[in-house]
Amino acid sequence: MTNSPVFKLNFADVALDDAVPTESLLRWLNRRGMSGTKEGCADGDCGACTVALIERDGDGRAHFRACNSCLLPVGALPGREVITVEALADGAALHPVQTALVDCSGSQCGYCTPGFVMSLFAGYYGSELNDLTTEGNLCRCTGYRPIREATRQLTLIEPPRDRFHDLLAAPCVPLVSASVGNFHNPVAIEDALQLKQTHPDASWIAGATDLGVSLSHGQRVAPAFVALDRIASLREIEVTADHIRIGACAPLSELEEHLAGLVPALDQMLPWFAARQVRNRATFGGNLGSASPIGDLLPILLALDACIECRNLGGMRMIEAADFFLDYRKTARAEDELITAVVLPRRSGRMTAAYKVAKRQTDDISIVAAVFALECDDDQRVCHARLAYGGVAAIPMRAREVEGFLLGRKLDTDTIEQTSQRLRAAFQPLSDHRASAEYRSALCASLFERFVAEHTP
Ligand SMILES: Cc1cc2nc3c(=O)[nH]c(=O)nc-3n(C[C@H](O)[C@H](O)[C@H](O)COP(=O)(O)OP(=O)(O)OC[C@H]3O[C@@H](n4cnc5c(N)ncnc54)[C@H](O)[C@@H]3O)c2cc1C
Ligand code: FES
Ligand code: FES
Repeated sequence: MTNSPVFKLNFADVALDDAVPTESLLRWLNRRGMSGTKEGCADGDCGACTVALIERDGDGRAHFRACNSCLLPVGALPGREVITVEALADGAALHPVQTALVDCSGSQCGYCTPGFVMSLFAGYYGSELNDLTTEGNLCRCTGYRPIREATRQLTLIEPPRDRFHDLLAAPCVPLVSASVGNFHNPVAIEDALQLKQTHPDASWIAGATDLGVSLSHGQRVAPAFVALDRIASLREIEVTADHIRIGACAPLSELEEHLAGLVPALDQMLPWFAARQVRNRATFGGNLGSASPIGDLLPILLALDACIECRNLGGMRMIEAADFFLDYRKTARAEDELITAVVLPRRSGRMTAAYKVAKRQTDDISIVAAVFALECDDDQRVCHARLAYGGVAAIPMRAREVEGFLLGRKLDTDTIEQTSQRLRAAFQPLSDHRASAEYRSALCASLFERFVAEHTP
């Protein structure tokens, strides 16, 4: 950990020697007079603070990834490259993304505009321009039609071979381990585990989309941090004939790209998970580490009989998802254990689907999430059933009694009616400002009915 903490900001080296590692990049930029990046919510919800971070995928290719600078602790930055809105115009010449917004009248008060510009910038160089490119950006005055027009205009313009293109094409400089004060960034699992032994009170931190919210609000989350996001082996995604192994720190947007079409439940859930900027950083490991009762990836693990791979200095062990969640935010993972991967078995012949009910598609918490896996034998009788829910109990849970009821039955009207009745009574959910307990119970049944309607003749 001897490397000096330096990162590249808009092509120039910046030292982080005196930085407070838990300060968000957003506040750090603003304090240095770089006021182009705006603070709207400091919670990851509005996108006003969007910057582009260079990330390399599993094949070593560099991409600009839009992320929320309000959630990104500066301690995670050494060795990284960040582009903010200040770098885009070349003297008086606007960047094509900015020109498109001007041409289409995509800005009024302008407060949200730098965030939109940076989301579009990342999409432009990644050839990922559509209405969802700016799904994580809120605008309260212009309205979205002109911004969508600007997006469409950009799809017609090939990105120029400019300095941003050159930055992406430059040879890969691997990230090395570095520390900013008590924020440690190892590059190997063994070093991470060793650091945890030396600093037992340290918190693991991956994409910081959960912890970053607390840090952004000045909460002292932990006396030290061991960051996992530059450990290459934790970001690997392996697909074999009988399983899919997802590195605990692979960002969710990489799962969207690499696993598209392979795990229907993930394909269906990920578009409902937060928004692009958050998915560019959020991880499976962080979802499991938070173990929230409304963590959207957790019912998927329960329904697909996944295993969770954990490691500490004593060795590695696999924990079945069914045994992982113990009580409200309590799991079977020991404090010094690192989640290294989740392993999803691949089974043919199973109907699976994931549903999330929330008040908005983007950046909203589940009222209820449900993930189902059913298999019928040659006689059309259920021979395997998993009905997993989030948002209905203190932990993500399977409706085990109802699963047992389904076994050996045909999925006829009578079975479905009886299953629905049982599902309505299977959990004792809470009422809160999002939904009543009755509504949540009703959703447990109606989502199952929808699943059967969508997946059986
Ligand atoms: C605007 C916004 C929208 C969101 N929307 C959703 C949503 O729709 N659905 C949803 O489920 N969540 C949502 N979240 C929550 C969050 O994005 C997810 O929980 C995400 O998966 C966390 O991953 P992370 O890598 O950012 O975790 P971090 O914030 O880095 O860490 C979270 C916790 O996990 C621990 N941890 C991280 N990695 C590991 C590991 N490998 N081993 C052991 N412990 C670990 C950390 O110590 C910490 O306690 C949202 C968050 C924001 C800010
Ligand atoms: S300030 Fe709103 S997402 Fe960062
Ligand atoms: S232009 Fe005013 S909030 Fe978007």
